[in-house]
Amino acid sequence: MNIQKNLILGIESSCDETAAAVVEDGRRILSNIVASQIAIHRNFGGVVPEIASREHLRQIVPVVREAIQQAGISLSVLDAIAVTRGPGLIGALLVGVTYGKTLALALDKPLIAVNHLEGHVHAVFLEAHATGGLRPELPAVCLIVSGGHTVIYEVKSESTNGVMQFSYSRIGGTRDDAAGEAYDKVARLLALGYPGGPVMDKLAVHGNPNAIRFAEPKIRGSIHDFSFSGIKTAVLYHIQKHPELQPEIAARKEALLRGERSADALRKLCTTATLDLVASFQRSVVDNLVTSTLAAAQELSANSVLVSGGVAANSELRATFEREAKKLGVEVFFPSRALSTDNAAMIAAAGYSRFAAGHFEDATLDPVANLPLA
Ligand code: KG4
Ligand code: ZN
Repeated sequence: MNIQKNLILGIESSCDETAAAVVEDGRRILSNIVASQIAIHRNFGGVVPEIASREHLRQIVPVVREAIQQAGISLSVLDAIAVTRGPGLIGALLVGVTYGKTLALALDKPLIAVNHLEGHVHAVFLEAHATGGLRPELPAVCLIVSGGHTVIYEVKSESTNGVMQFSYSRIGGTRDDAAGEAYDKVARLLALGYPGGPVMDKLAVHGNPNAIRFAEPKIRGSIHDFSFSGIKTAVLYHIQKHPELQPEIAARKEALLRGERSADALRKLCTTATLDLVASFQRSVVDNLVTSTLAAAQELSANSVLVSGGVAANSELRATFEREAKKLGVEVFFPSRALSTDNAAMIAAAGYSRFAAGHFEDATLDPVANLPLA
């Protein structure tokens, strides 16, 4: 019997990564190309939307070409094109959506619109396929935690026209900064480079996480909501109250200007006081994320917990989730680093379920900066 395989090209341009990937049947990754703009935005300490749009314009053609080449296929054999519609930076999204629409029109292929957050959920399932590991059981609770998002969803499966689809309910999320954004802002205050998360993750191991107690954020309403701007401000006040930290901050600024941004190089320029501050900040953020997510999982009797997005790479977050979830008898799933940060394989995988259900778009598709998932 000849079983038809469906090849979907995914395109992602919602923030500062231009990405394209080819995925077979929503499971098997044939290529996964990501052109990151970090080196450019680093000079500004954060993503500059206008520059991001221009870089996407520069990168999108070569990135798609490379994804097709690496998959060993030609554009003509694609079954559909899936593109991120939102949420994200509007100018950045516009580049991917316009390119996806044009390609679909020129090749006469179906066009699929994908919510970026749904892509992050699918990344966890892609990982299970890629590694031959256990597939997360639904219903699940998914924490998406990155530089742009910190949000918890309940993920269930439902059958639409005989095709299994995921359905999502928003359980909670940040009221202000995303967790990754808080890492990046604190790293900026302490002169630890951009993005801040990876370096602070490595430095935190050398500090005392109980050295400084940050007050629990007071949030009215959902117990599953987060607030990270308060802790960032608490770090700022702490630095202002401790002028003795200024010389080392100045020394690290110099080092960063010289291009010395590795965790090892920066650690040599950190006193115990700074390492303790980083470790305490991280402990507070991680405790917040884990406590709320696991409380949601218990409340909803979830069978598994999924954690996706750039901050999912954090070693303390992973260890704490694993330790605490075990106590509750829930399984936790993380994608690999390549699949947890922004990529287009997750967009192609999310697009596949739309493809199977026949949800296609026409040439009027436009990007939506704050596109809700549920
Ligand atoms: O998903 P991502 O690559 O891009 C978006 O924000 O969409 O996530 C990047 C964010 C940055 O804020 C970065 O500081 C954070 O993820 N990050 C980490 C770690 N690696 C990346 N935060 C904490 N620990 C890490 N190991
Ligand atoms: Zn993302």
